[in-house]
Amino acid sequence: MFATVMPGLARVASQVLGGLPGVAVHDHGFDGRSDVILFDAARGSRDEVFDLGLTEDLFVEVGRTLRSEGDRPNWIAGRIWRPERVQRALSVWANKVRPLSGTMTFRVIVRVLQERSFLRTELRRQFTDVIQSDKPKWRVDDPGQIEVWVSEYTSGRFVAGLRLSDVRMRQHEGRAVEREGALRPTVASAMVALAGVPDGVLLDPCCGSGTILSEAASAGWTVRGLDIDPEAVRITRENVRDATADIGDVRKLDLEDASVGACASNLPFGKRYSVQGEMEAWLRVALREIVRVTRPGGRVILLAPGVPRSVVPAGLRKLDRHQIRLLGLKTTIWVFERLG
Ligand SMILES: C[S@@+](CC[C@H](N)C(=O)[O-])C[C@H]1O[C@@H](n2cnc3c(N)ncnc32)[C@H](O)[C@@H]1O
Repeated sequence: MFATVMPGLARVASQVLGGLPGVAVHDHGFDGRSDVILFDAARGSRDEVFDLGLTEDLFVEVGRTLRSEGDRPNWIAGRIWRPERVQRALSVWANKVRPLSGTMTFRVIVRVLQERSFLRTELRRQFTDVIQSDKPKWRVDDPGQIEVWVSEYTSGRFVAGLRLSDVRMRQHEGRAVEREGALRPTVASAMVALAGVPDGVLLDPCCGSGTILSEAASAGWTVRGLDIDPEAVRITRENVRDATADIGDVRKLDLEDASVGACASNLPFGKRYSVQGEMEAWLRVALREIVRVTRPGGRVILLAPGVPRSVVPAGLRKLDRHQIRLLGLKTTIWVFERLG
């Protein structure tokens, strides 16, 4: 199988996937649009793989090959589309998506890292031809019932698969009420995964429409949200029925010391929302408060383009960071631990 995740999330996704029983991750890469993770999943583990919140799309693999000097797109297509392997992949697809009929519609989606030796559209055309000669009753259509994705996930390495997911995988349950600047649910899910095993309350002190809280509640956390904007609090209450949400200022939290198990937040450093006053001063005060309310050993996961070392209080240790791309912009998920 293989999965796509937002650019920069391959490492987190590989860890989460690799932690599932019956799943072995083999490789990962980037196909120019998404990070791609290649893995094997035992039949009994596939439902858990499907429920993984940080995946954008999931595929059952048809085949893979290497691109070599002088390679032609029809040769690549022919090496990947092997009828016996395709048949096995189709039975997984039919189990998960819809029963197969004699006359199916399909379309091919191709992502390549460079077009020096041939164009992406040429590989798509050749792939379509190879599929049609194996399945003469299948017809090309857009949208097609079956989507065949071909991805050059590392320079010169191709993997192809049948798409098992649809948009619901990346949108999750969807939000009852939308608010501008809402986080992509798959990124919120990755942040919650980085917060560790659920242990009491997860706080988002700048909760906006509640996306992180929604993912955290699904993962088993008790969720608490605060936002300076009363409208955000109203929306969070509608979007996340299990959340306790109140008006509050991250710079002066009305919470006991060490009262939350973890803190995860998408800070107001974007185009849509900004901090009150100077950014570093704001962050210094906010982090001091976040550290105060998080219990020792708890994780603090922040989405922000930068967190200068000078503003990080003594009680917080940086464990890791994941540089990601959101709507074409670079930002970072920061992973901290609250020291004892
Ligand atoms: C990037 S948005 C969060 C979006 C959220 N993750 C979602 O999915 O909707 C940042 C939020 O921080 C809030 N905010 C700004 N300053 C704040 C402060 N001092 N204390 C608490 N919240 C604040 C804004 O109202 C905004 O909702």
